[in-house]
Amino acid sequence: MLTFHPNPLKPWQPSVPAKIVNTLNEGKNTQQSSAGKIKRLVLPQEGRTKLNTYSDRDFYAYPRFVTHVDGGFISTLTNLYRERLRPGWEILDLMSSWVSHLPEEVAYKRVVGHGLNAQELAKNPRLDYFFVKDLNQEQDLELESCSFDAVLCTVSVQYLQQPEKVFAEVFRILRPGGVFIVSFSNRLFFEKAISAWRDGTGYSRVQLVVQYFQCVEGFTQPDIIRKLAAPAGAGEDKSPFSWIMKLLGLLSGSDPFYAVIAYKNFKPTYE
Ligand SMILES: C[S@@+](CC[C@H](N)C(=O)[O-])C[C@H]1O[C@@H](n2cnc3c(N)ncnc32)[C@H](O)[C@@H]1O
Repeated sequence: MLTFHPNPLKPWQPSVPAKIVNTLNEGKNTQQSSAGKIKRLVLPQEGRTKLNTYSDRDFYAYPRFVTHVDGGFISTLTNLYRERLRPGWEILDLMSSWVSHLPEEVAYKRVVGHGLNAQELAKNPRLDYFFVKDLNQEQDLELESCSFDAVLCTVSVQYLQQPEKVFAEVFRILRPGGVFIVSFSNRLFFEKAISAWRDGTGYSRVQLVVQYFQCVEGFTQPDIIRKLAAPAGAGEDKSPFSWIMKLLGLLSGSDPFYAVIAYKNFKPTYE
């Protein structure tokens, strides 16, 4: 069973509400519809392999108090959260660390964090609670069905070896209309990323995440947001094309930004 840790930075926090912990997996597999079922596997066995086959828990055993992407990426992501996440929501930050990219000025009802390093998560000021779980060992999230308005996964999806099962679990815990925002750049712990990701390009990685969503019955068609790094010297590029790209906010001048976003469909899908 999972242990939920209250954030030590928030000592006034009440104990973990029983509602978020789903020890009996209540509500799982009891749905009449096919919503949430995995329609097909996206990855072949070979695509799930990692160069470093040692346990992920060992790899993340020591805290890394670093930021994994640059300021341009983070401000694009925070703005996206500002647009898509409403105040008062309950949010799960999957594969999180010691930093939060949520807008500071917005108050959410509850932010739960998940990751592999408890020391990092304990330093994340936005989390009310956190839990540690290796999603490559086991994909069940011991959380109530339909209990979150949003799930976030930042610069981490490339490490999932069973993404189809994880995306199906995210679907289960989202409320109808809830959103899953998966963002990434081109940086990665190469040895720990799955081969389907390592061997890919920016374009194919976006397509991969789109397919992770599409393989679960009941997600809406994903939205894709791309903000590509300006080529070197583009600051001086006065061509109309470059000017228009910058005006439209399609060049970032920093780490490339990709986000794939889908919602748990309001409409039930029947067999
Ligand atoms: C590059 S960090 C990103 C952290 C955070 N999302 C951020 O934006 O700073 C990758 C994260 O993926 C998580 N992770 C990697 N492998 C995992 C696994 N097998 N199970 C669960 N989490 C994992 C680790 O906790 C790690 O913090």
